[in-house]
Amino acid sequence: MNVRFEPAGALTGEVRAPADKSISHRAALLAAMASEPVRIEGYLRAADTNSTLEAVRALGALVEERGDELVVRGTGLREAREPDGPIDVGNAGTLLRLLPGWLAAQEGRSFTLDGDASIRRRPVDRIAEPLRRMGADLQAREGRLPPLIVRGSRLRSIDCRLEVASAQVKSCVLLAALAADGATTVSEPSRSRDHTERMLLRAGATIDRRGSEVTVLNTDELLLDAVRVPGDPSSAAFLIAAGVLVPGSRLLIGDVGVNWTRTGFLRILRRMRGIVLGDLEEETQEISPEEPVSDLDVAHGALEGTVVEPEEVPLAIDELPLVALLGCFAEGETIVRGAQELRVKESDRIAGVVEGLRGLGADIEATDDGFAVRGTGGLRGGTIDAHGDHRMAMMGAVAGLASREGVEVLGMDAAAVSYPGFAHDLAALAS
Ligand code: S3P
Repeated sequence: MNVRFEPAGALTGEVRAPADKSISHRAALLAAMASEPVRIEGYLRAADTNSTLEAVRALGALVEERGDELVVRGTGLREAREPDGPIDVGNAGTLLRLLPGWLAAQEGRSFTLDGDASIRRRPVDRIAEPLRRMGADLQAREGRLPPLIVRGSRLRSIDCRLEVASAQVKSCVLLAALAADGATTVSEPSRSRDHTERMLLRAGATIDRRGSEVTVLNTDELLLDAVRVPGDPSSAAFLIAAGVLVPGSRLLIGDVGVNWTRTGFLRILRRMRGIVLGDLEEETQEISPEEPVSDLDVAHGALEGTVVEPEEVPLAIDELPLVALLGCFAEGETIVRGAQELRVKESDRIAGVVEGLRGLGADIEATDDGFAVRGTGGLRGGTIDAHGDHRMAMMGAVAGLASREGVEVLGMDAAAVSYPGFAHDLAALAS
């Protein structure tokens, strides 16, 4: 579906971002691994997280839908059922990377994970390597791509040093560690989002953090009771960018998750002099069992260029396309470094952002590990291809509202994996 976004007058009013995708995936997975029923309030209803519900059902969990609430009756940590056929992860990279951690420990059972054409291009070698060291039996196409076959085995604990910070890889190892035989430690070059750690703490696991190193002990069971899913800061970021870029705008975005490991984009935006007020969580050493929320108050204003350094990248990974877009409107240069991970997201987001924004009139160049944008005060407009990637589609939509001539987004339906109502919410704020 192609959709045209015309230059907008001021965006005003209140809006609630959709529920957090990362937390929803984890809530469904941990609930399926738990020994007692878990109530999940505000679970994200979007294509990616629907794939996770289907996956846990296929593995033997019962999912009951009660209005805005789900009740998941899990199988327990070591009792996932062998499904009749492959588990379809759809377009969900997080499901593809996290689920094998649980399945690797299901002794004597075998599982195949497969998904859409884009999932089949997403590497799984970074989870396969530590899981194999734990004793897991995994087989991937060409050694690194889905379909991925996981044969459950007895696992041992490991010390695992990740070369690239990744919450998906870290979470996969932590989930496997729950059913291993001692203490497993995962360390990253810098911190990545910590929703898994927080939820495991809530579920009674023994888990501890020192710097960017996390240690979890094996356990007999998880008990989670209830989870409330806050608004997704990565989805909210598209509304925030629209509010900052479209002249005269003033938006209130309610109930956004402000976990420090997810608010890197807001810190970058504030450095660019963007106006966004809210009660953001401070960095803490200890793992908090909470997922803090805040309303965010956003206003249009002039921006200055900035440099995003490698250690900030994992804390703003999904919002970096928006940093490029903001950079087009800012004074001076905006540079993102250390973001080679963007090449293995739902699409190659370095190539997509650079080609896409250049096609709309931006002065932007790709580097090996990011991009450099010279602000020209605005964007002309034109056509942008989402390449099947939800975040590229939504970036194109925001670019359209803030452009001089409007933008046609090719493949706007990609937004359905995380924010099905995005175009509708933008239209409501513009009217
Ligand atoms: C996610 C982690 C990030 C992010 C992805 C969701 C998660 O990936 O890009 O959209 O829920 O753990 P990496 O941690 O692999 O960079």
